[in-house]
Amino acid sequence: MRLKGKVSIITGGASGIGKATAEKFAKEGAIVAVCDINLDAVNTVVEELKASGAEAVGYKVDVTDKAQIADMVGALKTQFGRIDVLVNNAGIVMDAQLIKMTEDQFDKVIDINLKGVYNCTKAVVDTMIEQGAGVILNASSVVGVYGNFGQTNYAASKFGVIGFVKTWAKELGKKGIRANAVCPGFVATPILKSMPEKVIQAMEDKVPMKRMAQPEEIANVYAWLASDEASYINGAAIEVTGGLTL
Ligand SMILES: NC(=O)c1ccc[n+]([C@@H]2O[C@H](COP(=O)([O-])OP(=O)(O)OC[C@H]3O[C@@H](n4cnc5c(N)ncnc54)[C@H](O)[C@@H]3O)[C@@H](O)[C@H]2O)c1
Repeated sequence: MRLKGKVSIITGGASGIGKATAEKFAKEGAIVAVCDINLDAVNTVVEELKASGAEAVGYKVDVTDKAQIADMVGALKTQFGRIDVLVNNAGIVMDAQLIKMTEDQFDKVIDINLKGVYNCTKAVVDTMIEQGAGVILNASSVVGVYGNFGQTNYAASKFGVIGFVKTWAKELGKKGIRANAVCPGFVATPILKSMPEKVIQAMEDKVPMKRMAQPEEIANVYAWLASDEASYINGAAIEVTGGLTL
């Protein structure tokens, strides 16, 4: 068990990659805090984790709401005394080409995908500094390295969270905290549900492995990065794309 007793917050943990990460962390012995805007789905995931013998707690938290984040962090510190890992996974898409993108589409994606990561990390960083240890993991994307048609807002947010980890690696490394980003290619989760089947097929054709990733294949990378096996990995943006960009 590579994460035994590690108190780990997973934002957007009720669906897709976040849910798979919660399950993987639980299998590796972590104490998992699942938070999401969707409380029913949070409760379902937490019940499943507990039924498998894991220690898990759930919170309704919107990553744009600093008071909700502070309440969750306070409750975790009271119950467990520490925060070891933060997986900043919550994210949305609101796609449109630049010429058609509205200010609302731009602001919502930046607010959740970029500022949400800042909000959650700010809420735990003092605790990690006091502990002299911690791991911060950000959900970026292949789009955060290469950009993508129709994703001005999303690309900016995903480039931004790579900028965060490179900065935090420099600022916090000497305090025992590591910060890294994961850049998946296309992963079979509900976030892709707005995409036409034809577009999904075309994406799969571009991948040398001729398929999308399963959420568990991204969760495995988060678990490894959170563990001591990745003890010298800091400020990295790790592409997990099946070779999509080659
Ligand atoms: N699926 C992919 O192909 C893919 C590729 C690269 C990166 N990513 C990134 O991985 C992360 C997870 O994506 P996914 O595919 O599992 O998506 P998903 O839609 O299945 O899950 C996202 C979760 O985030 C939650 N969420 C949305 N807004 C929130 C908010 N304001 N506060 C808290 N929770 C909120 C949703 O309720 C949902 O449970 C995202 O950051 C996404 O950008 C996904």
